[in-house]
Amino acid sequence: MNESKKIKNSVGRNILDATCGSKMMWFDKDNPDVLFADKRTERHTLCDGRALEINPDIKMDFTDMPFDDNTFNLVVFDPPHLKSLGKKSWLALKYGYLLPTWEADLKAGFDECMRVLKPNGVLIFKWNENQIKVSKIIEVISAKPLFGHTTGRNSQTIWMTFMKM
Ligand SMILES: C[S@@+](CC[C@H](N)C(=O)[O-])C[C@H]1O[C@@H](n2cnc3c(N)ncnc32)[C@H](O)[C@@H]1O
Repeated sequence: MNESKKIKNSVGRNILDATCGSKMMWFDKDNPDVLFADKRTERHTLCDGRALEINPDIKMDFTDMPFDDNTFNLVVFDPPHLKSLGKKSWLALKYGYLLPTWEADLKAGFDECMRVLKPNGVLIFKWNENQIKVSKIIEVISAKPLFGHTTGRNSQTIWMTFMKM
């Protein structure tokens, strides 16, 4: 990213959600402290009739973020976790999907999250082990979380915590 294209002050928000999707995880989907980002803006009607809206504050690619180094106190990273699925399935609409370059993409995304965090800033990295084990992700990003915990019906979702030391 060209230096001049970087957003200097992140519009005054100190939390970045780098992959907000439809903001399912957020208690307050309009939290004014959060900059919601995603690579797409889309609106769909799911098979049960519910609307799915992906409407980030900023469209960006997490492998090349338009922010200065040391910008945010907290970054949330919940990238797509599925590589084998119908590209028009509701799962793909809701969560996106991994490209054939997913290993390099996730490594670049993780490195960008750490770059834009302030010193001592915290990264929350969510992963679902349905198709790819978290041990593989830890190998791909070459970094170990401080701690983490599994959640979800089948304990396949893991929330990992990193700090920019
Ligand atoms: C698992 S979903 C996020 C769900 C979200 N945390 C929620 O609470 O609803 C992953 C999101 O990452 C986005 N994404 C995929 N590749 C991306 C990229 N290179 N840059 C930015 N966002 C990306 C997808 O569009 C998708 O909305």
